Amino acid sequence: MHSHRIALIPGDGIGREVTPAACAVLDAVASRHGIRFGYDEFDWSCTRYEATGAMMPDDGLDRIRAHDAIFLGAVGAPGVPDHVSLWGLLIPIRRQFRQYVNLRPIRVFPGLPSPLRDADGVDFTVVRENVEGEYSEVGGRFGTGFGEELAVQEAVFTRAGVTRIADYACALAARRRGHLTSATKSNGIVHTMPFWDEVVAERAAAHPEVSLAREHIDALCAKVVLDPGRFDVIVASNLFGDILSDLAAAVAGGIGIAPAANLNPEREFPSMFEPVHGSAPDIAGTGVANPLGAIWTAAMLLDHLGHAEAAAEVETAMAAVLARTAVRTPDLGGTASTAEFTRTVLAHLEEAK
Ligand code: NAI
Ligand code: MG
Repeated sequence: MHSHRIALIPGDGIGREVTPAACAVLDAVASRHGIRFGYDEFDWSCTRYEATGAMMPDDGLDRIRAHDAIFLGAVGAPGVPDHVSLWGLLIPIRRQFRQYVNLRPIRVFPGLPSPLRDADGVDFTVVRENVEGEYSEVGGRFGTGFGEELAVQEAVFTRAGVTRIADYACALAARRRGHLTSATKSNGIVHTMPFWDEVVAERAAAHPEVSLAREHIDALCAKVVLDPGRFDVIVASNLFGDILSDLAAAVAGGIGIAPAANLNPEREFPSMFEPVHGSAPDIAGTGVANPLGAIWTAAMLLDHLGHAEAAAEVETAMAAVLARTAVRTPDLGGTASTAEFTRTVLAHLEEAK
């Protein structure tokens, strides 16, 4: 029996509605793979911020440091600035736990139309650098309120940081179809991006089984729309990867199904698993959030904890629901509630035994 303790942070809005779906799926596969999940739930959220002035307690990170993984629903509330929820919770977890890989798989499932023509069989993964790059704290604002007011923000790229993300992406490409695409902008951003290109090329050369293509981010966005089937693994800096992965999620039929993992590959710290979507205040509380993003994210958690077979069963059940049934939440054109959709996935999981 494998026992895993999961730190659950349902968060705000639909985060609270999709997290139970993910747990139900985890528990259903666990029982037949000799796995037992124990959950410790934390109320860290914008709701907590509004009540106490902090997204999480001062010793928050210490409380979850020893867990095997973290599952986060979504955080965000209309009355709380987004930088508060991001810098008060998500970014400290990603940085302090050295979750330098943000992994975002994209697949076009049969039965779930892409907004694009000819997108059948699209299956690629964005590997986003998650702790440095453009999202740095280096900089400041000066002369506030005067005509000469200025704001400076430095992008930070380190050899260690680019090397490890490139190595991760190369190893992933080697396990998949062997094609790596690196997102760059070395024609316009003349210091950091040529450095990124050099280090990525160096690491790709050390993986002869992987072919490397380099694309400027603007052209790459166009290609992801015009010919998404050509991609296998895309490695990108923090900002480029953030934008690309939302674009790619749209290509695959919507943000409601997109999963993400924030990984500490060395496993010195817990990794964090979160659907790509936010707290969706526009539909929160109505019980119609699409739980697929959270369920697919649960599959990534299973895979990370060494249960590849269980993860594959979850993905098979998801694909079967989309291919063989008309059960869909409203974002995908249906009328099913979160609970109905989750029950349908659980029923197919039962069949996948
Ligand atoms: P969002 O992802 O919450 O919503 C965008 C649109 O997609 C909305 O119309 C929403 O109803 C729909 N949508 C998203 N997920 C869905 C699902 N599972 N099922 C059905 N429909 C879904 O992004 P938005 O509106 O930009 O942000 C709302 C709040 O969430 C903000 O406070 C933002 O900061 C936060 N946010 C948090 C994230 C996180 O926790 N990692 C990520 C993105 C946004
Ligand atoms: Mg984003």
